[in-house]
Amino acid sequence: MTQTNYITQNKDRFISELFDLLRIPSISADNAFKADVLKTADLVAQFLQDAGADGVEICPTKGLPIVYGEKKINPDLPTVLVYGHYDVQPPDPVDLWTTPPFQPEIRTTEIHPEGAIFARGACDDKGQMFMHLKAFELMMKTDTLPCNVKFMIEGEEEVGSVNLDQFLKDNKEKLSADVVLVSDTGIIANDIPSITVGLRGLSYCEVQVTGPNRDLHSGLYGGGVPNPINILCEMIASLKDEDQRITVKGFYDNVIELSKEERQAMAEAPFDQEAFKKSIDINDVEGERGYNVPERMSIRPTLDVNGIWGGYTGEGAKTVIPSVANAKISMRLVPGQSPEEITQLFQAHFESIAPKSVKVKVNPLHGGQPAVTPIDHPAYKAASAAMEETFGKKPVPFRGGGSIPIVAAFEQILGLKTVLMGFGLDSDAIHSPNEHYGVFNYLKGIETIPLFYKHYTDLMSK
Ligand code: BES
Ligand code: MN
Ligand code: MN
Repeated sequence: MTQTNYITQNKDRFISELFDLLRIPSISADNAFKADVLKTADLVAQFLQDAGADGVEICPTKGLPIVYGEKKINPDLPTVLVYGHYDVQPPDPVDLWTTPPFQPEIRTTEIHPEGAIFARGACDDKGQMFMHLKAFELMMKTDTLPCNVKFMIEGEEEVGSVNLDQFLKDNKEKLSADVVLVSDTGIIANDIPSITVGLRGLSYCEVQVTGPNRDLHSGLYGGGVPNPINILCEMIASLKDEDQRITVKGFYDNVIELSKEERQAMAEAPFDQEAFKKSIDINDVEGERGYNVPERMSIRPTLDVNGIWGGYTGEGAKTVIPSVANAKISMRLVPGQSPEEITQLFQAHFESIAPKSVKVKVNPLHGGQPAVTPIDHPAYKAASAAMEETFGKKPVPFRGGGSIPIVAAFEQILGLKTVLMGFGLDSDAIHSPNEHYGVFNYLKGIETIPLFYKHYTDLMSK
């Protein structure tokens, strides 16, 4: 049977099996879901085994387990290490979902007229990870697997892959390969295929500002004592200047600026600013002076408040001066910046701008290195050739704004380059309510992945 026939004949099952995976709420951030996360690991292992992998195991870590499996056909042929994650982001705010986040359903949208799968994790990353399992099954069943393959599917990506470095260090031999293949990013549009060649890093901190030792009556005390929420807001506001540049001392010191030529090449990738604004219902864009919107979202570092809380947030009015105010602050980093260094600079700066009247604590949560992946590597060329075949157009290389910290670890610990051959769309609402993944994209991925293997094996044996 041809690969195309195999997809046509099995596509309903490919979708229903993905639904089984999407029904389990594998939320890594919330310990209350630990049993579900473990159940998901079991199911992934089962699917991997059923697809034809050998040596399938659920490898424990200090945190959530990693599912491993492999197929070695010939030591003289190249080995591809496939990485993905089976954990998902919390679905909150749940009320904003049209259908419940863990009850997958197919609906059409303007961008996905052929239907999209709505569920938390549909695109990030269960749907994209599962394309690899189904593409592998297809190659096994049609007897077309051209090289060796290893799978490493983790359960802590959405919480910073904190135990993965150790796993890589402890399993260098087992994970030895020629390249890492990941589908956890996107393409520009379904008619504009693209390959991500860079990701931003991340430094994530929680801050706490404490004023009086207890909540106070805002009439009796108001005006005479520090209000930690007011102060936190002033401190946060001062973190950017009028050009929207980040004021943390030393923040930009090691940023590697792109050359004029590199920026010109980037500008070749289509970007429709009006459609962009409309898609998220904003009247205007904003950001660092001197850079356009795609640049601000990919090659420039950022600082954003992700959450802020304190005081009274219940129904009605309560007159109170809170004792404590909190915020979660993340910084996206670009090549040249190291998360450890930026976290230190942020901490020192944030403490230094606090007025004497309050106490400030900065608690670093996690970080990740930025990554740039090569376009002259045989695996990039193979991905490009594979996508050109299935999309009918040569994909354009572009830098993404998100982070996959593990990509830098693959290079540093295993000495491996990564190819980011993702099939999602920015409009798929990953991490947001109503996350979805196009049926077109899902099947296109299953169709493209085997071609990657074929081209990569061909290029490597020349
Ligand atoms: N798959 C995303 C990253 C991504 C999505 C990159 C789309 C490029 C395009 C990944 O699961 C993710 O969400 N990463 C986190 C970082 C992590 C340390 C929590 C992120 O970027 O916020
Ligand atoms: Mn992801
Ligand atoms: Mn994610």
